[in-house]
This record gives sequence, structure tokens and C-alpha cells, in this order.
Amino acid sequence: MPKFKALWVEEQTGGVFIRRIVERDSDDLPDGDVLIEVHYSSLNYKDALSAHGNRGVTRAYPHTPGIDAAGVVVASRNGAFREGDPVIVTGRDLGMNTAGGLAGMIRVPADWVVPLPDGLTLRDAMIIGTAGFTAAQSVWRLEEHGVLPGSGAVAVTGATGGVGSFAVALLAHLGYRVAAITGKRAREPWLREIGAAEVLGREEFMTDAARPLLSARWAGAVDCVGGEALSILLRSTHRRGAVTTCGMVAGPELHVSVFPFILRGVNLLGIDSAECPNPMRREVWRRLAGPWKIPSLDALATEIPLEEAIPALEAMIRGESVGRRVVRTRL
Ligand SMILES: NC(=O)c1ccc[n+]([C@@H]2O[C@H](COP(=O)([O-])OP(=O)(O)OC[C@H]3O[C@@H](n4cnc5c(N)ncnc54)[C@H](OP(=O)(O)O)[C@@H]3O)[C@@H](O)[C@H]2O)c1
Repeated sequence: MPKFKALWVEEQTGGVFIRRIVERDSDDLPDGDVLIEVHYSSLNYKDALSAHGNRGVTRAYPHTPGIDAAGVVVASRNGAFREGDPVIVTGRDLGMNTAGGLAGMIRVPADWVVPLPDGLTLRDAMIIGTAGFTAAQSVWRLEEHGVLPGSGAVAVTGATGGVGSFAVALLAHLGYRVAAITGKRAREPWLREIGAAEVLGREEFMTDAARPLLSARWAGAVDCVGGEALSILLRSTHRRGAVTTCGMVAGPELHVSVFPFILRGVNLLGIDSAECPNPMRREVWRRLAGPWKIPSLDALATEIPLEEAIPALEAMIRGESVGRRVVRTRL
């Protein structure tokens, strides 16, 4: 089997983790039904955590992170996939405790694999990746709870990040009025270019935070950061509105009274992409390739070679990421 390049994270003495590119062989990969030549991967916050030794994500090192992969089947012992099929793998255990997509090859169970839907290239699929898939699930859940394009403004926190920027672009594409909340005010022109109608700085948004209910201003919200931002969103959402929660870059704790729920009927909706059931997973991808396909996907992403994933993951852990990083993984 051909050799391939992989991002390799090792623990050194004293709990220090180092990251480098190594050459590997497919015999090194875990057992599984489908061997895939990975053409593109992408960077997600979970990869940054794995690459920096977070044991909540990855228990054992050395390890190859990468929760996303898009490529072509090389060999399959499951009849659902044949050599040459273009496929996507996102989430499940990929890149957590299974060697991940920041490599030229992966081997995974067949039920982790999704056929590449018509309407997307492998590269498009990784511009979307887990971040876009998470944003799409968030929009789906808002729709289910009656937050529709005519309902009023929808807020997105962590707006320049992967999930946040995709949510801004997707909501705008679907006709919502989007308010982007960001710690990077200087990125306002780009946020407007991808679809934000309004941009609020994080500091400005965080004022007036002490009261149990704030004046209602959002029909709904996609929260990507957790902590105090999520608490503020819940307290400032309109009666019967809904707020999705997927992330915790600002902290895992949520301090909020029951008043938004019992006085305004606000819904808090949890989003979990890694273990999304297959029927919903395939339907989300079908939408992302069809009616929900963002016309300007390229504006959301920068393409980088595998070597540049290392500094990009370091920037991500510092909260400096902007948009999506698509990673070229082939030699
Ligand atoms: N539940 C799921 O299934 C799921 C799936 C995907 C991701 N996630 C989670 O969603 C979050 C975002 O992931 P991502 O891949 O989009 O990461 P990302 O690209 O690194 O984006 C995170 C963004 O959050 C903002 N941010 C960073 N530090 C912050 C802080 N201390 N306080 C407030 N905002 C801060 C920044 O945007 P601004 O500067 O624009 O504010 C940053 O760009 C992560 O917690 C990730 O684990 C969950």
C-alpha cells in the first residue's frame, strides 16, 4: 500500500504536546470496513483541542486528529461502497480516538461513511465539513421551532469562526436577517460580504448582562461560544423564540434563571453533530448540496496544505480563526 502523510501529535515528558507531519502506511491504520484516500480535510475546534492534548477529546497519543475527511474509496468489504466512490466522513469517532482525516488515508466502519451527494465536489464538502453540518443542523432546528425568515433578526455568536461564519452565510442565503456577533470587529466587511445585515462587537453585546430578562431583540440565535454569551441570548430572545447551542469556546457553564423559559417560552436547542443519526445526517447533506447550497462557498474558506494545518490549529486554540480552513491531504 502507498505511504501517506499524516499530522502526528505526540506527548513529551511534562505534558507537552508536539505536532509534526510524518509518513505513514495504511497497515498502521485501525481495522475497518472502508479504506479511503483522503483528498481534503478541514479544521474544526475539536481538532485544535485534540492537537493540543485535550484528553476529553483524545485519550491516547500519539494520534492523528481530523474529524472531517472527503475522498475516494480505495477498498471496501461492505457492499454499500465500491472502489472509486466519492465519500464524506464527518464526526463519529473520526479524529478523536480513531486516526483522523488530517492524513492521506483513513479506515473506518461503513456506517460512518456518507456518499458524496450530487451537487458537491469533495472540496465543497470540506468547506462545509463538521462546521457547516453543525450550522445546518442548527438552522434546521430553528425552523422546526418556528423561527423562519420573516420572524425577525437571528443572532450568531462566534461569527467569524467555522460554525459561526457558515451559519451567517446559510441563514442569509435562506432569507433571514442575520446579526453577527464577533470579537473581531475589524472583520465586519467580510461578515457583511458573507451575509450579515448587522455586526455587533462582543463587548457591545455583553453589556447590560446582569438582569434576569433583557429587552427582547432576537427571533432566534445560533450560539457557537457558550458561557455568558449564551445566557445573554436566552435572556434577549423574543417570546416563543429559539436558541441553539453547540459550542463552549467561552466556557462550558451556563448561568441563567428559568425566566426566559417560563415567561417567554424560549426554547434552548442542543446540537450534537458527531452522533447525528444517519437518516438526518444524509438529509442535512442532501440539503447542503441542493436547496441550502451556498452560492459563494469559496468566500468562506482558505485552502492550505497539510503542513500549514499545524500553525492554523495553534491560531484556532487562541480564538484567532477566521472562516473555514480546507486542508489538502494528498502527497
Ligand atoms: N456540538 C457540536 O456538534 C459541535 C460541532 C462543531 C463545533 N462545535 C463547537 O462549536 C464551537 C465553535 O467551533 P468552530 O469549529 O467554529 O471553532 P472556531 O472556528 O475556532 O470558531 C470559534 C469562534 O468563537 C469565537 N471565540 C473564540 N474565543 C472566544 C471567547 N473566549 N469568547 C467568545 N467567543 C470566542 C471567535 O469568533 P469571533 O472572534 O467572531 O467572536 C472564534 O473564531 C467550539 O466550541 C466547537 O467545539 C460543536
